[in-house]
Amino acid sequence: MSQNEEEYDHALVAMLELIWGEGFLSPGGPQAVREIVSGLDLEDKLVLDIGCGLGGLDIILASEFGARVIGLDVEIDLVRRAVEKIGKSGLSDRITLQHCEPGPLPQADNEIDIVFGKDSWIHVEDKRAFFTEVFRVLKPGGILTAGDWMRSAKPYGKDMEYFFEMEGLTYHMETLEIYGDILHQCGFVDISLDDVAEQYRAQSHQEYANMKGPLKQQMADSLGEEKQAYFIENWRAMTVVLDSGELRPARFRAHKPL
Ligand SMILES: C[S@@+](CC[C@H](N)C(=O)[O-])C[C@H]1O[C@@H](n2cnc3c(N)ncnc32)[C@H](O)[C@@H]1O
Repeated sequence: MSQNEEEYDHALVAMLELIWGEGFLSPGGPQAVREIVSGLDLEDKLVLDIGCGLGGLDIILASEFGARVIGLDVEIDLVRRAVEKIGKSGLSDRITLQHCEPGPLPQADNEIDIVFGKDSWIHVEDKRAFFTEVFRVLKPGGILTAGDWMRSAKPYGKDMEYFFEMEGLTYHMETLEIYGDILHQCGFVDISLDDVAEQYRAQSHQEYANMKGPLKQQMADSLGEEKQAYFIENWRAMTVVLDSGELRPARFRAHKPL
């Protein structure tokens, strides 16, 4: 089953924004967006951000790179909040947000220059159907560029099971190699796969230390002490599976042939 109901509740979103910055529901902030689109010319290109969350990344794509952005997300509350945020940013003429259902994309064939995603496709169960759709909506010569959370090839151990339990979100992880195989089978060429687990492993320890230190009071004030303690334990569980190499954030890029 893909994620099809509201999973990113108020407390989770508030906590993620505290750690990763306003408008960001995944690590790395504006710099991660820059890295994912590095070397691409986005000026006036039509970029489809699938799983846009609160739209913080779309603001970077439009304001720093001159892209025209369509952001899609399955969570209606997140889309509402993102619309509000984009309105305040003065970028409504460049960014359109759309609520969507999991499954076929609402875009027409060959409509999009660049499909972008950041740590959202982990929620999609049928990756082959998903990337077939991404391929369909891209123009010939169009580019898919994204980051996502991957797993190692080993069966899940108890630390990973505990991490999933703490996260409480619907995850369907694959290895980076399987993403590569599926992209190839869907017709993509010039596929590059880049494991960035080590980069995020170090950062996650810093985040965990911040949650127990400088962010502790702010978390308690906005979430209450019970949720604060829960999320600190959640983060500890995440550092364990990043340290063991079972959780492997990665980046990948692929091209639709001309
Ligand atoms: C970890 S958040 C990342 C959001 C955003 N990309 C960011 O980095 O801030 C994952 C997002 O994917 C969305 N999502 C899950 N399944 C989806 C699907 N099938 N299509 C579009 N969005 C989806 C969730 O609602 C959530 O907003």
